[in-house]
Amino acid sequence: MPLSLQSKRSTLTQFLIEERRKFPGASGDFNALILDVALACKAIARSVAFGALGGVLGDAASAQGGSVNVQGETQKTLDVLSNTAFINRTEWAGNLAGLASEEMELPYQIPAQYPRGKYLLVFDPLDGSSNIDVNVAVGSIFSVLRGPDTGRDVTEADFLQPGTQQVAAGYAIYGPTTMLVLTLGNGVQGFTLDPNLGEFMLTHPHIQVPPDTQEFAINASNSRFWEAPVKRYVDECLAGKTGVRGKDFNMRWIASMVAEAHRILMRGGVFMYPRDTKDPSKPGRLRLLYEANPIGMVMEQAGGRASTGELPMLTIEPRALHQRIGLVFGSRNEVERIERYHREPTPQAEHNPLFAERSLFRF
Ligand code: AHG
Ligand code: MN
Ligand code: MN
Repeated sequence: MPLSLQSKRSTLTQFLIEERRKFPGASGDFNALILDVALACKAIARSVAFGALGGVLGDAASAQGGSVNVQGETQKTLDVLSNTAFINRTEWAGNLAGLASEEMELPYQIPAQYPRGKYLLVFDPLDGSSNIDVNVAVGSIFSVLRGPDTGRDVTEADFLQPGTQQVAAGYAIYGPTTMLVLTLGNGVQGFTLDPNLGEFMLTHPHIQVPPDTQEFAINASNSRFWEAPVKRYVDECLAGKTGVRGKDFNMRWIASMVAEAHRILMRGGVFMYPRDTKDPSKPGRLRLLYEANPIGMVMEQAGGRASTGELPMLTIEPRALHQRIGLVFGSRNEVERIERYHREPTPQAEHNPLFAERSLFRF
C-alpha cells in the first residue's frame, strides 16, 4: 500500500526538526547523528531481509577460521557487517567524539581525516544474532552520550556514564516490518520503515507501556541458577489463578531482547535476564552500556521500569565498557514487585525442606 498523496504523516526527519525547534540554540549535529544511525539501520534491514540470497548468513570468517568477539562469543557475518555499517554511516560527519560497540574490544577512534564532534555512540549492532540463521526478528540497539568535545582520542572512561546521562537511545527491529523506536528524553516514538520511500514514518507516537501485565519472559532453562526472589516471582506466575497472584500468566522467550522489548512496549509484559549463579565471572548475561541502558531509557520514557532487580538500571555507575548486569524491565507494577521480592526475606516455604525440589510437596 503506497503512502497516500494526501498523507501528512511525519517522517523521522520532520519529527527531529520539529523537536529541534523547541531548542533554538541547537546546532543540528544531534539530528544529523540520529539520521545517520537510521541510515545504518536501513542498510542492515536490507541485508537481513536478503538472508541467504545475500550470502550473509552463518558465522563470520577470519584468517584463523571462526571469529570470536571480546565477549568470547562467535561472531556472525551479520554482526561484523552491521558493526561496519554503524561506523561507516556515522564516523565521517563530525558529530561524534568516538564509538563503542559489542563487537569491538576498545573504543573506536574517529579517523584523522574526519572532524570530531561532541557525542559518543554506543551500540549493539545486531541483537539476537543467534536468530539470524533461523529467520526470527533481530535488531540494533544504540545509546547517545556526551563526549569530551576537545577533539582528543576517547578512552574507555569517557563511556562509563550512568544511563541517566543518555541524551537519546533506541533500537531498530528487523521483523515483519522494520521499525525504529526512539527516545530523546521526552517520551518514546515508533517509526515504521516505508519500503517504497525508504523513509521511517511516525506510526506510533507517545508509546506507553501498560503498568500491569499477565505475560513474562525469561529463559527458564536457567532456573536452577536463579536467586530466590526470581524463583519466587516465576513460581507465583506459574501458579496462576490458584496461586497468590490469582490470575493466569503467559510466557514468551524469543532470545532477541529487542523483540521482547518491542512486544512489551506494544502490549506490556516483563522481561528478566537476572543475575544468576551460572557463571560467577558473569553477573548477568546482557551488557549494561549498549543493551540494558538504552532499553532501560526507552522503557522508563514509556512509563515502564528498568532495574537490576535491586536498583534502578539507569543509576548504575558503569565500571567497564563490556560490563554485564542482571536486567529486569517492562510493566511498572511487575518490575516493582520483583524489586520488592529482592528486598524482602525469602518466604518460609523456600527454606522448608518439604517444599524443596524433589521433596514430598513439590511435583
Ligand atoms: P547478542 O545477540 O547481541 O549477543 O544478544 C543476545 C542476547 C539477547 O538478545 C537475548 O535476550 C539473550 O541474549 C538470549 O540469551 P539466551 O541464549 O540465554 O536465550
Ligand atoms: Mn545483544
Ligand atoms: Mn549483538
